[in-house]
Amino acid sequence: MLLGTLITIITIGLFLTVKSDIVKIKELNNNILIGKKFSDEDNWWKTATVYQIYPRSFKDSNNDGIGDLAGIIEKLDYIETLGVDAIWLSPIFKSPQVDQGYDISDFRDIDPDYGTLDDFTTLIEEAHKKSIKVVLDFVPNHTSDQHEWFQKSVNLVDGYEDYYIWADGTMSQNGTRIPPNNWDVLTFWLDTHDLDGARIDAIPHLVEDVNLTDEPLSNDPGYTEIDYEYLDHIYTKDQPETFEIVYDWRTHLDNITNTKQVSTRIFMTEAASSIEEVIKYYGTPDGSKLGAHFSFNFYFLGLDESSTAVDIANDINEWIASKVGKEKIDGLNMLVAFLPGVQITYNGEEIGMENGEVTCEQGQDGSAIKDNCTHYESSSRDYERTPFQWNDSENAGFNSGHKTWLPVSSKYKECNVADQLAKDKSHLKIYIELQKLRANLVDQDQLIIRYPRENDKYLLQITRFNIVSSYNFSNVY
Ligand SMILES: *[C@@H]1O[C@H](CO)[C@@H](O)[C@H](O)[C@H]1NC(C)=O
Ligand SMILES: *[C@@H]1O[C@H](CO)[C@@H](O)[C@H](O)[C@H]1NC(C)=O
Ligand SMILES: *[C@@H]1O[C@H](CO)[C@@H](O)[C@H](O)[C@H]1NC(C)=O
Ligand SMILES: *[C@@H]1O[C@H](CO)[C@@H](O)[C@H](O)[C@H]1NC(C)=O
Ligand SMILES: *[C@@H]1O[C@H](CO)[C@@H](O)[C@H](O)[C@H]1NC(C)=O
Ligand SMILES: *[C@@H]1O[C@H](CO)[C@@H](O)[C@H](O)[C@H]1NC(C)=O
Ligand SMILES: *[C@@H]1O[C@H](CO)[C@@H](O)[C@H](O)[C@H]1NC(C)=O
Repeated sequence: MLLGTLITIITIGLFLTVKSDIVKIKELNNNILIGKKFSDEDNWWKTATVYQIYPRSFKDSNNDGIGDLAGIIEKLDYIETLGVDAIWLSPIFKSPQVDQGYDISDFRDIDPDYGTLDDFTTLIEEAHKKSIKVVLDFVPNHTSDQHEWFQKSVNLVDGYEDYYIWADGTMSQNGTRIPPNNWDVLTFWLDTHDLDGARIDAIPHLVEDVNLTDEPLSNDPGYTEIDYEYLDHIYTKDQPETFEIVYDWRTHLDNITNTKQVSTRIFMTEAASSIEEVIKYYGTPDGSKLGAHFSFNFYFLGLDESSTAVDIANDINEWIASKVGKEKIDGLNMLVAFLPGVQITYNGEEIGMENGEVTCEQGQDGSAIKDNCTHYESSSRDYERTPFQWNDSENAGFNSGHKTWLPVSSKYKECNVADQLAKDKSHLKIYIELQKLRANLVDQDQLIIRYPRENDKYLLQITRFNIVSSYNFSNVY
């Protein structure tokens, strides 16, 4: 019954991508999977499953209440079990943690909360031994005010005056724009430290109009002067120069890949912009310049319990189970797994973790706590950052008892990795099976999923390029 609903969702969603010449479903023969996944070092990213880890909440190895790199290393076996191709870590760089690590005071060092550069080297080595790639966040838009460059710039140290665009509050100024010089940071990680890729944070905001022109009012109802949405950001977002910088980075990364003869170094951009702008991050329309290997598509973010399959999400504001309802966890994981291209899984989605319980007083998300907690509930990202639920021991197995940086969700007794691994049928088992199935598919442009026979509820059939693959879910449902 449950799967019936889920498959229907999938079918509706995917038929939208099917062209007019719908492939005839052939009679089912065996449970044979046909096709292959790009696993070669040039194309690995085209069909990769990327597992996003929030390091602060993943595994606390030294019992100080904060997750760390050693914790991730400890859990690499688990990550291998999932069958994902790469892990992407939210920021682990040195930071005063005013903005949850997005305020970086040294782009080339690890914050002591998470460990050391040596720990990072070990993580890369151990992950690569398991053929798991590692991708980090890269935050080019801004630095912490404690960064050496900022301190030197504010104190007008020779050569650093123009590292930032300084302006008097209300005066417009000439200020010839100096391109950011973060290429050495990219080289540091992707070349020297053998990193496989970077996810570029907040890319649309990189360049601002040189004249610091006031932006027009958006006139969107419900917003006041303190809200970002109050203005129409035509002078500070998606500026033409931003795209040129992204194209330069691609050249730089491709050069590292080619000169080092290594697997393709990739980057993915985070741009909550209109689809027209997001497309530009991939490159120029004539293909003469390439940009990001892929860009996150937030177009599908408007999901809720009434959403249909059309509204697929890659969501950073809530665990997907909380957003769409627990009964759709497997359906969404299936849907995302079967779409062509890259799959991103936020840690916890594979076991159907739901939002934790955090009060504003316990909260850590600075931008949500401000304004006397009046917007905490609607804007906090703490709910989906509660510690990862490993088992039903103290603190969900996240650590061995020290007070955790955010409270452990009470839901860990019912929802945890150990329990779902032990069961024959669970969200986790389905996720793992899906990854095995996905490993046998290619990035193709025609896809049909349906049950081959009316009464065969647990059988899934996928057609791509006239090739029929069938999969038997009876053993996990
Ligand atoms: C980008 O940097 C500017 C300063 O240059 C800052 O005002 C803005 O808040 C940053 N945007 C994001 C999304 O971090
Ligand atoms: C801005 O001023 C600098 C020197 O302060 C000058 O070199 C540059 O040409 C000026 N740019 C514009 C657009 O006026
Ligand atoms: C900035 O202002 C100058 C002088 O008003 C103008 O010539 C120039 O086009 C403006 N630049 C942009 C990017 O708006
Ligand atoms: C490509 O990388 C090599 C080795 O790091 C470097 O010497 C060369 O200058 C780079 N070329 C470009 C065009 O950046
Ligand atoms: C927060 O609450 C305090 C005490 O009730 C009040 O004085 C202050 O103005 C409030 N601040 C904001 C930003 O609402
Ligand atoms: C729960 O997990 C933690 C580490 O993740 C481990 O130390 C602990 O022994 C586990 N508890 C049980 C009962 O397995
Ligand atoms: C699917 O698997 C179940 C359980 O292993 C088995 O009973 C069933 O016959 C299989 N269906 C097909 C069509 O192979």
